[in-house]
Amino acid sequence: MANARNRIHVMHGVNLDQIGRRDPAHYGGMTFLKLEQAIDAYADELDLDARFFQTNHEGEFVEELHRVRDLADGVIVNAGAWSHYSRAIGEALQFAAVPAVEVHLSDVMAREEWRHVSVLTESCIATFSGKGVEGYRDAFAALKAALKDAPPMAPVRS
Ligand code: DQA
Repeated sequence: MANARNRIHVMHGVNLDQIGRRDPAHYGGMTFLKLEQAIDAYADELDLDARFFQTNHEGEFVEELHRVRDLADGVIVNAGAWSHYSRAIGEALQFAAVPAVEVHLSDVMAREEWRHVSVLTESCIATFSGKGVEGYRDAFAALKAALKDAPPMAPVRS
């Protein structure tokens, strides 16, 4: 379908590429490759086209958000520890001009206090935390519903 708005950019931030080495009690012990494969399978189930991006550099993450409206119709963000303090990423999400959903594999509210705040939540249409990889399925479903209901974003002219 030529006009289907089904491209979802799945953006992982700092230390997510090392997920297989991190505490399995929080992250399930799967490698990053397996995580992306599982996420891709969920996208397929919903007829969505997932694209993937990961970086450990905050500026690269911000710059990817600057381009995301040219790359995708919606974005899923798991920014790792940046979620808790990066106002730069929060601001970039605000003008990304595509709907965003925040995901955390672990239950951040049940962990250390510094993880209880996310500075990204206010720029996202939904947040899923503590559901492991299944949180991404919920995120795809939320974006699919949002893209179906909302009129396409107006083109930006300058
Ligand atoms: C995380 C939770 C963050 O607190 C942590 O810094 C991460 C991963 C998660 O997916 O549960 O790196 O975003």
